[in-house]
Amino acid sequence: MDEPVRAGGYQGYHARVEAREDAELTHTGRGTPGGEYLRRYWQPVAMTSEVGDLPLAVRVLGEDLVLFRDRGGRLGLLHRHCAHRGASLEYGIVAERGIVCCYHGWHYDIDGTLLQAGSEPASSPLHRRVTQGAYPVHEHAGIVFAYLGPPEDRPAFPVYDTEQVPGITARAFSITTPCNWLQVYENTQDPIHVLHLHARSSGVQFGVASGIDQVIDYRETPLGMINVQTRVVGSRLWTRTTESILPNGNQTGAIWEEAESPKYFRRSAILRWMVPVDDVTTRTIGWRFFSRELDPRGQDDPSRVGKESIDFVGQTADERDYTARQRQPGDYEAQVSQRSIAVHALEHLASSDAGVARLRRMLRERIRALAGGEPPARPALRDGVVSTFCQDTVCDRSGADTLDEAALRAHGQRVADAVIESADLEPEARARRIRTCCESVAS
Ligand code: FES
Ligand SMILES: [Fe+2]
Repeated sequence: MDEPVRAGGYQGYHARVEAREDAELTHTGRGTPGGEYLRRYWQPVAMTSEVGDLPLAVRVLGEDLVLFRDRGGRLGLLHRHCAHRGASLEYGIVAERGIVCCYHGWHYDIDGTLLQAGSEPASSPLHRRVTQGAYPVHEHAGIVFAYLGPPEDRPAFPVYDTEQVPGITARAFSITTPCNWLQVYENTQDPIHVLHLHARSSGVQFGVASGIDQVIDYRETPLGMINVQTRVVGSRLWTRTTESILPNGNQTGAIWEEAESPKYFRRSAILRWMVPVDDVTTRTIGWRFFSRELDPRGQDDPSRVGKESIDFVGQTADERDYTARQRQPGDYEAQVSQRSIAVHALEHLASSDAGVARLRRMLRERIRALAGGEPPARPALRDGVVSTFCQDTVCDRSGADTLDEAALRAHGQRVADAVIESADLEPEARARRIRTCCESVAS
């Protein structure tokens, strides 16, 4: 029940400080509605570079697992505790085929089939009765993805169009954040924080232009939603669309964008997934994309991108000491300090939280739809590839600095329309469509 609203000073005694988290959206363990939803999609679980000659203990969606590459070169992802008497397979011996538990030598294939129950005779009925829990994996561009859902619902593995932009290189990274996945994820539909956290509270953390006031809209896409940020930068209009690919994927534009020259449909600098390790820990895994187009000033630093590291400030606890993080907090400090699991019932959402509210609503609808028996939404594939909606468009516009908010909003909406409506076209044709839409207004 809501507390009576008390305005005015010194209300600490009356202010509500305890409430339950929104379990439907934030709980991700086996059998929870949110966990079931997340389990219907391929999730990144490790970087390929982490899988060496020893098994790797991983925790995903509250499940303790072990990832390994057998000596035959195949990857396996098994429940961590051996089906015999529970010893951890992180101490297992990687075999030519599968893995052998250290304790009594039970030998499992990568799909969990019990190949040999240690010293039991090969005729033992155990071989027919026992299997080790296992999940299918797919290795792609330096990241190991896994599907933890029911086998009959396993979707095709999606490749995204932004992975195929000519001239880019991709580097895998992973960052652990000690809080619930949703507060990490919904940060990307909270564009007003870019202005405050990244341009005012802490000095300019990204491109200078990103500190300019933006006009913001939100649009749904076939994959989820975008926020549409339109800014006036000198004599140009810059429209950025930042994307949520439901349930937990995100694409974000160039970190150091300054809108210095016209560009149309310039693609994303990051494709990542905020994966629950459990309900109070999140591992963000994805690719950082590099190209001259994305970074004309040479500010990116691929050498800093990898395990627990990325080349922009404020994403981990380790890169700076506590006082430095207090003086210039970043995303990590803001998100982690929202509590282990942010409590929505204690929030006071404002008009600028429209994206966060919409993202939560969309997730809730999909979680409930799945629980109600509807099949999970699958992305449409164009020649096997998913068309996505993150981009930056910068166009010259005489009198840009005299445009009012309504005109800027209309511009952003036209760009967003062109981005969404062009999903079936080749990337070059999408860029042309967006350019035409900008130029038809400018002329
Ligand atoms: S506990 Fe694994 S073989 Fe006995
Ligand atoms: Fe941020």
